[in-house]
Amino acid sequence: MNVDRVVAVLANTLYVIERKSIGVRRAFSYVCRVHGCGKTLLDREFLFELALRFVSSYYTLLYIVERGGRVKRYSHKVLARLFLYKWLLEEGERMDSRLRKSVERDLPGVGRVLTNIEEPWAMLSYPKWLFDKVINVMPVDEAIAMLNAMNRRVVWVRINTLRIDVDKALHELERNGIVYEVEKSIPFLIRVIRSKTPIRRIDLFKNGSIIVQDKASVLTVIALRPEPNMLIYDFAAAPGIKTSLIMQLTENRARVIAIDMSRKRLEAMKLLLQVYGVDMNRVDLVLGDSRTISLSRCSDAALVDAPCSSSGAVSKDPAVKIILRDSRIPKRMSEIQKRMLMNALRYSDRVTYATCSILPDEGEEVIEDVLKMSVEHKLMDAPIPVSRGYKAYSIWSKVRRTLPHIDNSEGFFIANLEK
Ligand SMILES: C[S@@+](CC[C@H](N)C(=O)[O-])C[C@H]1O[C@@H](n2cnc3c(N)ncnc32)[C@H](O)[C@@H]1O
Repeated sequence: MNVDRVVAVLANTLYVIERKSIGVRRAFSYVCRVHGCGKTLLDREFLFELALRFVSSYYTLLYIVERGGRVKRYSHKVLARLFLYKWLLEEGERMDSRLRKSVERDLPGVGRVLTNIEEPWAMLSYPKWLFDKVINVMPVDEAIAMLNAMNRRVVWVRINTLRIDVDKALHELERNGIVYEVEKSIPFLIRVIRSKTPIRRIDLFKNGSIIVQDKASVLTVIALRPEPNMLIYDFAAAPGIKTSLIMQLTENRARVIAIDMSRKRLEAMKLLLQVYGVDMNRVDLVLGDSRTISLSRCSDAALVDAPCSSSGAVSKDPAVKIILRDSRIPKRMSEIQKRMLMNALRYSDRVTYATCSILPDEGEEVIEDVLKMSVEHKLMDAPIPVSRGYKAYSIWSKVRRTLPHIDNSEGFFIANLEK
């Protein structure tokens, strides 16, 4: 391992995430294009894994720098070196002597702080405000278990029955050295236990026969209960993972109006739906603002998979932790969410509202506020086998949450509103 090169890639990746508020994969690819990331695919995979861990431990590293350093200001390189130092110690690997000297020079108290991180938010590496919010709605022990679970990724893969049948896909996965478990209640969903080759590299993935989709995201569409010949509005549709599941569950027989505000994401969606074998004659892609869009008729059901803080998707992309340095994001998102949901209620007697957020601001509180403004729709329990809402809210038993430490998935909020 060339320490200087690894430090440069990690530090630059972090810098790009901070500047552009983008995910780790995009930031890493950008850095690799500009600076190079090793000659072989293996080098690159290894560096990417390190980058994910580095970004995920951002708040732990800041805490150590603040308490163990000489200077109050940190540089990205100081953080990257500290990360490597800590990682090599934890893995019991040989310590590069230049790395050790440099870290111990910049951070003389590093040994003392490393063995003595008292604050749970710093230990688990989350913004303090987020930890404080979560312990307002669940006991501290449970909050720690949940945030800890979110530091590990569980990979779920949906078998796309529009492209392949389940048995054939399972056979192919085994042939590719993928060890999996089929989800009890959803025969087309598997949890990947081990895989020799990254999923993205196998043919089944490239030709759209399997799709990486979290269990919580699949359950959101199951909560919608799509049926053949239904007209369904998808108010935040791109890049189309849930639209394509609607079409899978109805054997390409639903009719979907898929709305999104991002032209770029809609273009990506069009290509993706084609790869996934979705009948494009039955899906209309509409560029529009779902907070205000006017539609000529009512639908049978609507999905509002609203834009959100993504606080429940930290395991998939730890860059979310860094973007959430700004504690005003959930409030800002909740205003958009309420307006989208209110507009969706105008056009459907049945609406499934979801966010990939563990924060009540984007879940229970949105629903409580919307119910105050709309008297016709009522909360109806979604028929999915996962946890319920936060008990601090009176509606807790009528809404659903996927809790990462219990439901083995990302953290989603899901609610069904019906007339
Ligand atoms: C959580 S993502 C949707 C993911 C999608 N349902 C899927 O499963 O692939 C949220 C989407 O909402 C879109 N969006 C944000 N604000 C919007 C608005 N006011 N109107 C319509 N779409 C919006 C974003 O462009 C983004 O694609």
